[in-house]
Amino acid sequence: MELMEAIEKRYSVRSYINRELEDDVVLKIMEVARLAPSAKNRQEWKFVIVRDRKKKERMVEVAKGQEFVKNAAAIIAGVSPETSYTMTCGVPARHIDIAIAMEHIALAAASHGLGTCWIGAFYQDKAKELLDVPDNCEVVSLMTLGYPEGEPPEKRRKSIDEIVCYERFC
Ligand SMILES: Cc1cc2nc3c(=O)[nH]c(=O)nc-3n(C[C@H](O)[C@H](O)[C@H](O)COP(=O)(O)O)c2cc1C
Repeated sequence: MELMEAIEKRYSVRSYINRELEDDVVLKIMEVARLAPSAKNRQEWKFVIVRDRKKKERMVEVAKGQEFVKNAAAIIAGVSPETSYTMTCGVPARHIDIAIAMEHIALAAASHGLGTCWIGAFYQDKAKELLDVPDNCEVVSLMTLGYPEGEPPEKRRKSIDEIVCYERFC
């Protein structure tokens, strides 16, 4: 599948069929996270993949009661040290680095006929405890992954005119 097709096809999947992920598919998808760019190529990230049914059930509470997370074949946590590199512009690189890698995962998943959903609504402390994340690290994002059930909804997006300006902020 072409990249544009995967971008257009990706949507937030909140309903999954009951099907395990093949190990080779998981590896293929994580390979794109490995290849993602990061500030200064520091690659200060770890991806914790949760596939255990009981642990996925406990992730519902971590994710503020979002029940659908337990039905995904896997939940991926993107983790980075809190002390990671802050760029000259004053922005900590870790949120950007993890976001790029996670979106690589989302697009690779779409190209394999899988669905994902970013999960930002989760309790940091509970996520760290359940996943044994060290104190000096932060779970930047969670993402569900699995075989989708149902059809994608229509995309609701602002127009290009509303979001793009030229030469100066408008
Ligand atoms: C950083 C981030 C956090 C998000 N957190 C959640 C979440 O906790 N639960 C959820 O159901 N969707 C979450 N979403 C999905 C967005 O609601 C979704 O991407 C947006 O509505 C656009 O829809 P689409 O992904 O289907 O194109 C999140 C998306 C992003 C990028």
